[in-house]
This record gives sequence, C-alpha cells and structure tokens, in this order.
Amino acid sequence: MPFSYLSHLECSECGQSFSSLEPQTICPTCQAPLFARYDLKSLSAKVSPKEMEKIDGMWCWHVVLPVLNPEHVVTLGEGGTPILKLPQLAPRYSLKALFLKDEGLNPTASFKARGLSAAVSKAREFGIQRLMIPTAGNAGGALAAYASRAGMSAWIAMPEDTPQANIQEAEITGAKISLVPGLISDAAKFLQSHSSHEGWFDVSTFKEPYRLEGKKTMGYEIARHFDWEFPEVILYPTGGGTGLVGIWKAYEELLELGWLKNDHPPRIYAVQSEGCAPVVRAFQNGESDVRFWENAHTHASGLRVPRPFAGKAILRTLKNSHGGAIAVSEEAIRKAQKDLAQCEGIFTAPEGAATLAGLEKLLEQGEIDPEERVLLLNTGSGLKYLDVLQKG
Ligand SMILES: Cc1ncc(COP(=O)(O)O)c(C=O)c1O
Ligand SMILES: [Zn+2]
Repeated sequence: MPFSYLSHLECSECGQSFSSLEPQTICPTCQAPLFARYDLKSLSAKVSPKEMEKIDGMWCWHVVLPVLNPEHVVTLGEGGTPILKLPQLAPRYSLKALFLKDEGLNPTASFKARGLSAAVSKAREFGIQRLMIPTAGNAGGALAAYASRAGMSAWIAMPEDTPQANIQEAEITGAKISLVPGLISDAAKFLQSHSSHEGWFDVSTFKEPYRLEGKKTMGYEIARHFDWEFPEVILYPTGGGTGLVGIWKAYEELLELGWLKNDHPPRIYAVQSEGCAPVVRAFQNGESDVRFWENAHTHASGLRVPRPFAGKAILRTLKNSHGGAIAVSEEAIRKAQKDLAQCEGIFTAPEGAATLAGLEKLLEQGEIDPEERVLLLNTGSGLKYLDVLQKG
C-alpha cells in the first residue's frame, strides 16, 4: 500500500492541473491556491477507515496527506486532539449537544502545528532548506518548531505587537525573526520585498498547497469522532481560512471515499471579530471575494487578517456548506473566554472563545436549532496570550 495516494495539484479556481512532484506555489494564471488531489478511487478500494486507527495523531491519515516517503515526516505529535462535551454550557443555550475540539493541546499549543507539520515535511521531501512565513503569531511559532526539528532555517515576520509567547517560542529555536510595524499583510509585504534573491521558500497561508492538508485532518478526526458523520453545525474562528476550508475539504474527500454514513454536510460558520470582519462583510453582501478591511484590530491576534488570500475559497465553503459568517465584539470574546474557563475548565485562546460568542449570536438569530449538534473549534491555548489578557 502506498504511504500517500497523492496524485496531483489542482487550481482551486480554474481547475488546471499541476505536478505534485516538484515544489509549487499558486496558479500562475489566476494567482489562486492549489489544492492537493489524491487517487481516492484506488484508496477506497484498498484501505478501510479501520486502518486509520493504527497510528496516533495526525499522521494516521497519511494516505490522504502529501508526503510520499514516511522518512520525510516531521512530527512533534500533532493531531488526535480531544472533542469534549460542554455539559455546563449546553443547557445554558438550551442545546441538546455542544462540543469543543481542543486544538490547544497540539505541539506549540495551536492548530497551526498540523499545517506546518505537513508543509515542513513536504518541503523536506523536496530538499528545501529555508522557509519563510508572514504570521499573526501561532503559525510562526509552529514553523519555528518544525523547521528546527527538520534541521531547516526559518524566517518569521510578524507584527511587532504579536503576543510575547509567539515571539519567544520562535526566538528560542534560533529562527530569524523580523518584527514589522502593522499587520500580517505588512509582514507579508516585508518578506516579499526582502527575500526574492535569497532563496527562501514562502509557506504563507494558501501560497503553498500543503498547510491546508495538515489542517484538513481536523475534519477527518471530527467525522471519526462522530462515528463517520459530521455534526450539523461547526463554528470556526477565521483569519486566513485554512482551518475552515480544510474541514470542508475533508468532508468532500470523505464523501468521495465512501467512508461517511450519510452525506449530510456540516454547516460551517466563520466567526470573526467586529474589529476585523472582512469575511463576514463579504458573505453578508453576497460578494464572491473578500475585500481589504481597513484599520483591522482585535485582541484575538489570529483573526487580525485584513484580507485572506483565499477569500473566494472561504466564501464558497460557507455557501456550499449552507453555513454563514458572524462577527462578535471584543467584549463578547473576553466574556466567552471566561465562561469556558469557569464552566468547563478550558482555557481557550481568544480566537477559540470567539466561537462561543458567535454561537450565542447565531442562536439569537434562530440560525441553529437546539436539537442540532454544535461543535466549537478552540484553535489554541489561552496560555499563549497571558500578556494580551493582562492588558485587558
Ligand atoms: C489561535 C488561532 N485561531 C485561528 C486562527 C485563524 O486561522 P485560519 O488562518 O486557519 O483562519 C489563527 C491564525 O493565526 C490562530 O492563531
Ligand atoms: Zn487557475
């Protein structure tokens, strides 16, 4: 049995095919992300989902991950995070079943570990030595860790007011760090203007195809947890959108594999802060792409992405899943973070807490039926935001 059934890459907009045997970035025609495609027909004929139980963590899904040779896998034990019931909070919202997937338990304490484990592994397979990333924080910390593990160099550009934990976790690995005034978009511009001649490979969100593959394993784990179906509603804190698009990609692949008990798609809702809600605005206006959000601000630093590169793919996911998008206030995020800690003992990242605040609003709007199963994604640990919380 092959370790991976990767067959090729495909442009997410024009459908053009590209080889997966050499490093790729984006579609040269549409400047859009490339998605990894697998030979799912052969896979489903040869592999049963039972096989996936033999290995712990994210790499148990290796047949639908892009690394061809197992020796190239760079792992710190990511994935396999728990899906917890929220028995105290569910009755407060008159919900029959409320769950939270706790991605704060990943290496480097956020879901970014999944994407960077996949991207760094694939880069190792290609013999790439130097990786650079503009980041809101957690992806930089994750790249620093996985690049060190693989013996590669990392260059991390992040806003100068990025949470201290992100700066320090990157610094301690010896990564090259640039603190840039402004936002992640300014960090991206900084790297583009400084790096072209130096041979650094860009692992920005959606500008290489493989971070998405790591993130999609959250979707595989969700389906497995619910005995090979999806809960009716998933709330995802959305910045660059890889988590959300990744879970939908998992749903589509699982459907094609024939591993799902039924084809009911999860309704996926993007949750953003009112201080930076470009996806919510675009969705509510029925637009097909996301426009730049001026003066972006939120203490949930991972949501401070003024214009996600994969805006079209994010909006398509919300539409195809019959989900939606909701913006919540900074105050509501803080309150939700306290509620999750006080009622359930989970110290979430502000981004994760935003999903509970979003749930409250969606229930008020009658978007969710109390009989439906609702899953919140906590994308990181609150322990990475101590300085942010102190500032109040
Ligand atoms: C904790 C946390 N949650 C959510 C996000 C947003 O993730 P995505 O880019 O997948 O939308 C980030 C991104 O930095 C993050 O660090
Ligand atoms: Zn294209």
